[in-house]
Amino acid sequence: MKQLNICIAGLGNVGSALIQSIEDNNKFHFEDRSIKINILGISAKDKNKKRKFNINNYKWFDDPKAMILIDDCHVIIELIGQEKGISYELIEMALNKNKHVVTGNKALIANHGKKLFDLANKNSVALSYEAAVAGGIPIIKTLKNTLNLDKINKISGILNGTTNYILTKMQEDNMSFDEVLKIAKDKGFTSDQESKLDIGGYDAAHKLTILSTLCFKSNLNFKNNYIEGISNIKVEDINYAEKLGYKIKLISEACIIEDKISNFTSPKLIKKSNPLASVDNALNAINIETFHLENLFLEGEGAGGKPTANSVLSDLYDISQNEKFDNLGFKIDKLQDYEKYSTENIINSYYLRIMTDDKPGVLSSITNFFSEFNISVKKILQLPENSDVDKPIPIIITTHSIQKEKLSNVIKKIESLEFVKEKVTVLAIHDN
Ligand SMILES: NC(=O)c1ccc[n+]([C@@H]2O[C@H](COP(=O)([O-])OP(=O)(O)OC[C@H]3O[C@@H](n4cnc5c(N)ncnc54)[C@H](OP(=O)(O)O)[C@@H]3O)[C@@H](O)[C@H]2O)c1
Repeated sequence: MKQLNICIAGLGNVGSALIQSIEDNNKFHFEDRSIKINILGISAKDKNKKRKFNINNYKWFDDPKAMILIDDCHVIIELIGQEKGISYELIEMALNKNKHVVTGNKALIANHGKKLFDLANKNSVALSYEAAVAGGIPIIKTLKNTLNLDKINKISGILNGTTNYILTKMQEDNMSFDEVLKIAKDKGFTSDQESKLDIGGYDAAHKLTILSTLCFKSNLNFKNNYIEGISNIKVEDINYAEKLGYKIKLISEACIIEDKISNFTSPKLIKKSNPLASVDNALNAINIETFHLENLFLEGEGAGGKPTANSVLSDLYDISQNEKFDNLGFKIDKLQDYEKYSTENIINSYYLRIMTDDKPGVLSSITNFFSEFNISVKKILQLPENSDVDKPIPIIITTHSIQKEKLSNVIKKIESLEFVKEKVTVLAIHDN
């Protein structure tokens, strides 16, 4: 029986679920696997806050860093979630004191991971982060342990549950973005502070940074991301996309193109027949294309205390079983700096919504630009919506694959037409 002594900093959604799970499972389920988890200390900001477990069963620390000084503590679990600040100080100090660290903190790993992985490597300790990407989906171990001899060509997926919930609800209930965001906040899916990271696409991009490092050995560099959030998505676009056989999802995808890294998080139209289109509500999913596997599709709960606590537990189990810790699945000196692939070079097909006056000749003027720039149009939908002639009407155009730069030039021309009434809405179409 291995006994793992741990201290937990952060007793919110994940920290509390972790303690409850250890309390429920230690005696039977964990012992069957020859592991006993012993909690030596807990810490959070407010000792008097009501918790889902009895804090008097554990030793309380006002300062989480003081727990590192407990000699027989093997693992510090960081579940506070600051991008730097106390979270970084705690992890850095723990690694320096040769303690293993488990964290769910994607923002911190994506922005400062390189330095911390170097430190963990130098001190031969674990810095484990299964909980940092896609909550309960075991994507980190799949990449590190199962696909480690495979060559990964592309990784893509839905990595943020809140935005997926919002887009699903907008579609199902025909509600505006603002209306659904309010419901998401009321239900506690996201807070004012978190929603900026969620809706802006940053949370998904933090996770993508970690995934692309594991897939392509790219140095952890958050600046390599192209990020576009969902706040400009209109329910009209969701409805028009549906008429064309698509759903709109916030898709994150990473691959290497011409020796450069392409890390993209943006809302995209996705064919209803694509498995990612059926991933609804707060679920997450990841598709991996490799040398050996055409598509490896993993779907599950991407957030929530219980699923994420399971990822922490799986890291703890790994720590209890190993003596050597390959935190990235490859030697850290193999990390390389990639140049960022220019967004203007990306080739994609696109959806455009052009709001115009309802008068003769409008459509032909617009399509003439497409011919002039040699862009092949796939479909056109002209949908007069109202009887009010003074109100603009939408023209929906989908294109075949085209370089973004070329499309941007056409859009500039279209927007300069006097009968085009607002900025053209442009969304990429997920082709594979
Ligand atoms: N929630 C999820 O579904 C999920 C999924 C995957 C990954 N994660 C990651 O897991 C981590 C924890 O997330 P969470 O949802 O559990 O967060 P949370 O509910 O906001 O909990 C944060 C905890 O940190 C404590 N804390 C804040 N400042 C502190 C300080 N200066 N010193 C000590 N403790 C401090 C808070 O104390 P009080 O309780 O006293 O306020 C709280 O217990 C984050 O990195 C998050 O990104 C979360």
